[in-house]
Amino acid sequence: MESIIPNFQFAMPTPEVTVLKMSHKFMINYNYLVVDPITREAVIVDPAWQTEKVDEALVEANAHLVGVLVTHSHPDHIDLAAPLSKKYECPIWMSKQEVKFSNYRAEHLVPIDESPLKVGNIVVQPIFTPGHTPGCFCFLIGDNLFTGDVLFAEGCGMCPDTESAYSMFESLQRIRTLIKPATRIFPGHSYGRKPGQLFEDVTKENIYLQFDKKESFAAFRLRSGQKKSFIFNFS
Ligand SMILES: [Fe+2]
Repeated sequence: MESIIPNFQFAMPTPEVTVLKMSHKFMINYNYLVVDPITREAVIVDPAWQTEKVDEALVEANAHLVGVLVTHSHPDHIDLAAPLSKKYECPIWMSKQEVKFSNYRAEHLVPIDESPLKVGNIVVQPIFTPGHTPGCFCFLIGDNLFTGDVLFAEGCGMCPDTESAYSMFESLQRIRTLIKPATRIFPGHSYGRKPGQLFEDVTKENIYLQFDKKESFAAFRLRSGQKKSFIFNFS
């Protein structure tokens, strides 16, 4: 598979990543603030629920928000997209396919394709990874991959049916092809492992990255008797 990732992705200043653990009732999500170390321009990935934590993180990093990156349209990933984009007068970037699928609308919404986005001196490379929803993006920024509900350290996102599981299989294959072993994986949720695991470790330990055929992957992803959505291996 031809790489969509240009060489300049690896020649830019090292982005600063701040992990923000957000909670709402029984739910926990991870948001990520990514800052250009030179201009202090920042983007936030999948913001939800706790505005004050985002504001505090921006102050602490001496950064200003210039964009909201959204991996997909599920409510726990877009909760603060519109209010933050309004407050900081910046775009919400979501894949064209996800905008179409979800009907999500917001004043500052900008549907995007896989063209790289510039944020100060850093480059955001969207990678189309459907399956969990039809328009999921992962975002590669330097040596950091923000994966939303596509890839977790411990598993992968839910797929509603066989076709979407096939898409998820192809998306995970694509990640395996494109992403370097030393890349850190920052998912939307953690089910035991801290955000920021090395992809080479995730590749070895995540059972969903071990399949070579879409049929066997889909059969496992959709297996019956899964008692909890996020017990990945043996339930
Ligand atoms: Fe989701």
